[in-house]
Amino acid sequence: MITEVCVCPICKGPLVSANQEFRCAACSQEYPIVDGIPDFFLSQPEDEEDQHWRENLVWLDTQMAEARDTIYSLSVREMKGMTFAMRQLGPLTFSGCRILEVGTGTGHFARWMAEVSASQTEIYALDFSWPMFEYAKLHTADQPGVVLLRANSTSKLPFRNESFDIVFLRLAPLGEHRMDNAQASLQLLKPGGWLFKAGWDPRNRGESWTEAVLKAGYECAETHEWLYPRTKTRAEYAASRVEAERAIAFGAPIGNLPEEPVSLVSMICETLRIARKPG
Ligand SMILES: C[S@@+](CC[C@H](N)C(=O)[O-])C[C@H]1O[C@@H](n2cnc3c(N)ncnc32)[C@H](O)[C@@H]1O
Ligand SMILES: [Zn+2]
Repeated sequence: MITEVCVCPICKGPLVSANQEFRCAACSQEYPIVDGIPDFFLSQPEDEEDQHWRENLVWLDTQMAEARDTIYSLSVREMKGMTFAMRQLGPLTFSGCRILEVGTGTGHFARWMAEVSASQTEIYALDFSWPMFEYAKLHTADQPGVVLLRANSTSKLPFRNESFDIVFLRLAPLGEHRMDNAQASLQLLKPGGWLFKAGWDPRNRGESWTEAVLKAGYECAETHEWLYPRTKTRAEYAASRVEAERAIAFGAPIGNLPEEPVSLVSMICETLRIARKPG
């Protein structure tokens, strides 16, 4: 139930649901429900020049959302790391289990988690991009456990502390005032809860991540890595829209990207980090 997990991001007061909105019982702030999605997004950072914030604005672009949806519909189930993640995550769930996915984007992973989770698992899939939600709605429409909600994951969050059994984070920011995402997750997790943090990374940084999160208060932590050769030609990438996405993300015209199969010059590394909060 959303009111058991979500609170007013401003004052942490309890929410009451009224017609097409939630209202804070303490400070009366109203939060609209837009096309089924509760909107707890408060404002942009005061510092408009904030570098991290500006980098993330690319995700509000409709073309970017379309590009990502196209790639993921083609390839997401082939990512070895994510298959491994789902195999690890599924057995940790139970009836009434609560998962927070930060930066759900197109909702592909929210859907996959719903498929591998115990029945009655609740998946709160957060993002701040309306164009992304259009795809997330499509991919999760037949998954009753998935709740989409809009908030700024780098600002005041609309959750009670210790609300989640699992926090799943893939290539998305979490933490107010640049709080480290593992630290922010630690606050949101119930005792004994699990952090799953996935992404692309340079190699060999696992050791220091593990050490850092153990120091931050996690009980155990492990890092997994999968190296993929980049084997596609430019034409193949263009066909799958990967190049289009990169061009938008990095402001690079598609024509500037290499003609040769990229495997000649690089490998990419998929990472999955799993840590557990003491029970
Ligand atoms: C790189 S995409 C990752 C999407 C998905 N997790 C995946 O692995 O493909 C980053 C996602 O985080 C969302 N995002 C970025 N900054 C955010 C913020 N401050 N608050 C909420 N969502 C944010 C974007 O809208 C986008 O959907
Ligand atoms: Zn309030």
